[in-house]
Amino acid sequence: MSDARWAMGGDLPVGRIGYGAMKLTGWPRGDRPDRDTALAVLRRAVELGVNHIDTSNYYARDGVAANELIRAALHPYPDDLVLVTKVGALVEGPDIGLAPSEQRGLTPDGLRRGVEANLRSLGVDRIDVVNLRMGDRGHTDASVAEPLETLLALRDEGLIRHLGVSNVSAEQVAEARTIAPIACVQNMYNVAARDDDPLVDACAEAGIAYVPFFPVGGFRPVTAERMDAIAARHDATVPQVALAWLLARSPNILPIPGTGSLAHLAENVAAGGLRLTDAELASLA
Ligand SMILES: NC(=O)c1ccc[n+]([C@@H]2O[C@H](COP(=O)([O-])OP(=O)(O)OC[C@H]3O[C@@H](n4cnc5c(N)ncnc54)[C@H](OP(=O)(O)O)[C@@H]3O)[C@@H](O)[C@H]2O)c1
Repeated sequence: MSDARWAMGGDLPVGRIGYGAMKLTGWPRGDRPDRDTALAVLRRAVELGVNHIDTSNYYARDGVAANELIRAALHPYPDDLVLVTKVGALVEGPDIGLAPSEQRGLTPDGLRRGVEANLRSLGVDRIDVVNLRMGDRGHTDASVAEPLETLLALRDEGLIRHLGVSNVSAEQVAEARTIAPIACVQNMYNVAARDDDPLVDACAEAGIAYVPFFPVGGFRPVTAERMDAIAARHDATVPQVALAWLLARSPNILPIPGTGSLAHLAENVAAGGLRLTDAELASLA
């Protein structure tokens, strides 16, 4: 892990490489580690210096819930640990183990219940960062005003420290910034999915963290011949190159790779120290 830090919301310093807890639950599909491994991964992440963990109360399948695992592994939390959750719109479907219906959606009641559910399951009085999660399939152009005002009121009640937005367009980010200070934007982005290039730069200019989900490709990890060659040159793996590329792309990018593997976790954290050459970065541009 490199020593570089980003001050989330201006006052929560986090390392550049964080951790996403979704994979620990197998939500919405795919395999997951057994409980002991999941707890070990979370504890090892913190031991390795990770202090930014992304979660949600709807990361849950068959009774295995990310927030419960985080609490079991790490509570009482280290002082510098930054927990980031999300509430709002959700992908729905018959195979998806969703949080109870009253704890989701963009209505004032759904958002409040979602925040309260996260407070309870994480065992905290205040959540460091809550992302308002908007569109489910790509960006939609719905206004963020009403749901963000609801979260702002919850922040003013002391239940939330900072607000972020997720699955949003540049226009929605601009609108959000007229309503509340925005600590972070969480969207899909990686070396092979670059639609958000202009938004990454706009966030950097505004001092807003850009947190790419699927940083190593999500359900389909990125592969490319030119990345194989770069990885071989550094005695690294392609996911490590993908993470190193993100770190080099802009100082406000804070990847949250998810893994249920202790070995992959160690690799992902080590990618924080991997420096690609200018020529390598140019070849991936
Ligand atoms: N806001 C949103 O709408 C949204 C959507 C999706 C995700 N997220 C958040 O973003 C986080 C990251 O996304 P993600 O976990 O889906 O995608 P990801 O980090 O790009 O990829 C995770 C997948 O890559 C594998 N992997 C991770 N590190 C690896 C390595 N070093 N070598 C080989 N394989 C590796 C993992 O399998 P192994 O377990 O085998 O390592 C897992 O299958 C999630 O955990 C979640 O917190 C947010």
